[in-house]
Amino acid sequence: MNISTDTIQMINHQLSVPDLVTIPFIPGDGIGPEVTQAMQSVVTAALTEVYGNKRQIIWKEVLAGEKAFRQTEEWLPQETLYDFSHYMVGIKGPLSTPVGEGIRSLNVALRKDLDLYVCLRPVRYFKGISAPVINPEKIDVTIFRENTEDVYTGIEFEADSPETSALLQWLQENYPQSFGKIRFPQTVGIGIKPISQQGSQRLLRAAIEFTIENKKPSITLVHKGNIMKFTEGAFRKWGYDLAESEYKDFIYTSKQFDSTRKTFGLSVAREEKETALLTGKIWMNDVIVDAAFQNLLLYPENFSVIATTNLNGDYLSDALAAQVGGIGIAPGANINYQTGIAIFEATHGTAPDISGKNIANPSSLILSSVMMLQYIGWQEAADLITSAVEMTIRNGQLTPDLAQFVKNATIVGTQEFANAIISNF
Ligand code: NAI
Repeated sequence: MNISTDTIQMINHQLSVPDLVTIPFIPGDGIGPEVTQAMQSVVTAALTEVYGNKRQIIWKEVLAGEKAFRQTEEWLPQETLYDFSHYMVGIKGPLSTPVGEGIRSLNVALRKDLDLYVCLRPVRYFKGISAPVINPEKIDVTIFRENTEDVYTGIEFEADSPETSALLQWLQENYPQSFGKIRFPQTVGIGIKPISQQGSQRLLRAAIEFTIENKKPSITLVHKGNIMKFTEGAFRKWGYDLAESEYKDFIYTSKQFDSTRKTFGLSVAREEKETALLTGKIWMNDVIVDAAFQNLLLYPENFSVIATTNLNGDYLSDALAAQVGGIGIAPGANINYQTGIAIFEATHGTAPDISGKNIANPSSLILSSVMMLQYIGWQEAADLITSAVEMTIRNGQLTPDLAQFVKNATIVGTQEFANAIISNF
């Protein structure tokens, strides 16, 4: 049997994926190795089930986190970054953030060094999971969170430092009005929030193209533009500009709709949504972030794809995951759609309290591997795993974190949960 054994490549803006593909993976710290092993057993079994031996993954372990530090005295060796950019598509378990001044979060370092500008978080409900809202099945939302800008850039000056004094002095001399807005200049710490047109529009373009390709009904820009006009407000404007200049044939924009009103789920929004539907186009609208939190609880069916800035996206993705039963099952990915480089990841942490006990829930990493298979175009295997996960959860075979809230659940361990998924193929 001839199977091609090249690495993934980006050719004419499309991923070209060989049948025998090398995928670098970081097992991670704490529960990382347990959930990684469970995930790999599910993926390998699914590939065999769907493709026989025509398509396979060669798993290549790369070092990061505590294991890397023990072996190389580096938390994130250069070789790991090289492997992720060389092989292009990888997956990782959770990493503990090393404690100590001046050491960056490894997750942030990976995103920054590989310029993975989209944080992609699909959130949906699985029947059988106990959720805190009445109709969790109405939630099917994909969040595109900008990953490289905003207050996360890390430009911060401590109160009473020489940097802050210099900045304040400069403001006072050059922009006295702005300086006057600072209520307590003597004790203020200052953070800088950079949001650019390029940075916003590459994220917005990815969100729009995903919406079109996946035939989703709407895309909502979430921002705080009523207060931060030149950053969050500009993000909103650049979103509409991009849609109107490049995607006119696909998108109906609702920017005349007053997004500051909290009536998003009510008649005005319904009329706009219906108008968009009649044109046969995708409905692009926008909502102020505080209203978005409210509306995602009250009218989740009005949301499909969300494009948002970094900090808003951080809050929104965890809150929405909680609405469907917790971040323990929410998958995620960090992607650069221009280079094609992508790292799929569990969204929970290393859970040191349950590490090594075979009770961690591997769903987040398993569902992230589903996203990875979709990304490389191996849709049939992705679909098989998704329906087997649905069946396993619906049957009440659950790890302790989920089983505690479900009557008559059968409690299973990490690897047993993976085995149950495989037996439900
Ligand atoms: P955590 O997510 O590790 O744990 C919070 C709680 O959720 C704990 O009670 C834990 O037992 C439970 N939990 C988490 N994942 C679970 C799973 N798969 N199955 C069952 N229960 C699960 O968050 P925490 O305690 O704030 O952080 C611990 C470490 O993880 C820190 O070093 C932190 O920096 C790191 N972290 C890493 C992330 C990443 O690599 N993406 C994300 C979040 C935290």
